[in-house]
Amino acid sequence: MERNRWYKDMVFYQIWPRSFKDGNGDGMGDLLGVYEKLDYIKSLGCDGIWFSPIYPSPGADCGYDIADYMDIAPEFGGMDAFRKVLEGAHERGMKILMDLVVNHTSDEHEWFQLSRQRIEPYTDYYIWRPDPGNGKLPNNWDSFFEGKAWTWDPVREEYYLHLFAVKQPDLNMDNPLVREEVKKILRFWLDMGVDGFREDVITYISKKEGLPNDYIMPASKGMPHYNHGPHVHEYLAEFKADVLDHYDCFTLAEAPLVSPKKALSYIDEKNGQMDMMIQFQCVTADCLLTDYIPLPFSLRKLKKAFSSWQYTLKGKAWNMLYLENHDHPRIVSRYGSEQFREESAKTLAAALLFQQGTPFIYQGQEIGMTNWRPSDPGEYRDVQTIYNYEHTALNKTPQQRLERLWRCSRDNARTPVQWSSEKNAGFTTADTTWISVNPNYPRINVADQEQDPDSVLNFYRKAIHLRKKLSCVRYGTYKEYQKHSGKLYLYSMRDDRQRILVVCSFSKKNLKWKAPRDFYLGGAELILGNYNTTVENILQPYECRVYLWK
Ligand code: GLC
Ligand code: CA
Repeated sequence: MERNRWYKDMVFYQIWPRSFKDGNGDGMGDLLGVYEKLDYIKSLGCDGIWFSPIYPSPGADCGYDIADYMDIAPEFGGMDAFRKVLEGAHERGMKILMDLVVNHTSDEHEWFQLSRQRIEPYTDYYIWRPDPGNGKLPNNWDSFFEGKAWTWDPVREEYYLHLFAVKQPDLNMDNPLVREEVKKILRFWLDMGVDGFREDVITYISKKEGLPNDYIMPASKGMPHYNHGPHVHEYLAEFKADVLDHYDCFTLAEAPLVSPKKALSYIDEKNGQMDMMIQFQCVTADCLLTDYIPLPFSLRKLKKAFSSWQYTLKGKAWNMLYLENHDHPRIVSRYGSEQFREESAKTLAAALLFQQGTPFIYQGQEIGMTNWRPSDPGEYRDVQTIYNYEHTALNKTPQQRLERLWRCSRDNARTPVQWSSEKNAGFTTADTTWISVNPNYPRINVADQEQDPDSVLNFYRKAIHLRKKLSCVRYGTYKEYQKHSGKLYLYSMRDDRQRILVVCSFSKKNLKWKAPRDFYLGGAELILGNYNTTVENILQPYECRVYLWK
């Protein structure tokens, strides 16, 4: 039977729980805080929430190091708070997505504790290797966060593999028992009523046999030997056939370094193993593969990312649309302009929200939050950021290294959501917060933007409302124009009922433009824009317009 792909009509909101809203006054976000804000999320036009991990965790990677997959962390309110949120969301017609992080666990997970003692059946739950001797490591792979990918365990007297932090040992997915554990986790949450999963670095779960040395990729040695590894499709198909197919749910795969063509092997609607994919091209238009190799922002690169996914997936698979999440700096600061903050936040929203796919909005994006620039490097909390500051670019001055973090750190997107101009941005009643609040909150906050019909927040609401009304956005065909322009992003969506033209300037100056030949502006209705007065053939800085023909 053809599946009901309800997620195609939806817009999701991503919550990174530590910094969303504090409900119990301890300075850290929690599910009580989320419960208070369900109506707010709904008011944006969002139909669901993706939760970054809320399971018990020592917090080495802010929850992406899980110590127990079948519980909710006490600091977030425990299982009772979660059930309340789940029910509250469902009452409002909203779906809940959990983050499934099964490439690795925390080293404090019971499985790892038993595995390091060689207690059956856990002995082979992780990827262990004996000491090769001569001061060598089992292979030359790097971890993403903390140096080499191998750490010596004095208990087991072997090395374990960790592609991320030292406290995130990789699971051995080749072990059928580990795959059964994953299925148990999936069933546990689905039986409770959750509606799907975002699957963390899921393309990494199958490592090449023999874990060979990598001589191909200098930036992150090892990746060619585990990204899209030999059994990844087989394992994902197994999860689908044994569990996911038996529930009305959907899955979203996080996939670093994936082309749209490659994506089809995972998410093709005919025989894919998952439903949507988080690709990285749209978040690397100002860097080389990672935020830590910054380059000037290239609109052409961003347009190419958008268009190639729209064209390649058309009719075959479904796009996930996003520009921000908890892993990258804020888009206004990256792709837009803090000088033209409101205008550029809106142009970026228009660029994204009328494409085909399911949009995901990251907390704070809807009010145009910006990057954060603390003067003390000790204020950073993220493991990757701290390691980077301490171990790389050591030939640079401390100030230069700090400024690098202002540009590159994930903590840019992890400061608390700015709810109001009250103390600590109304995020908490506590005097101190687990990570500093961006000092620009008196200027950028939800409460003020609620009062202003022209705010970024209300622009997001309007754009989401419009996208839901326009059949051409959901079912129509995307086409890009003037693709060589480095200042203008121009695309249309059309179906047999209507067509729209989306016009987005990324220029700080006025920009001359002309509509493509078969779009006669005289016959169109201007349904959205970010300036009150417009001149037909000139776009003001970061101006955006959406025209409709019926
Ligand atoms: C994903 C997450 C990121 C996390 C990493 C390791 O990329 O989005 O936040 O640090 O995986 O789990
Ligand atoms: Ca709290």
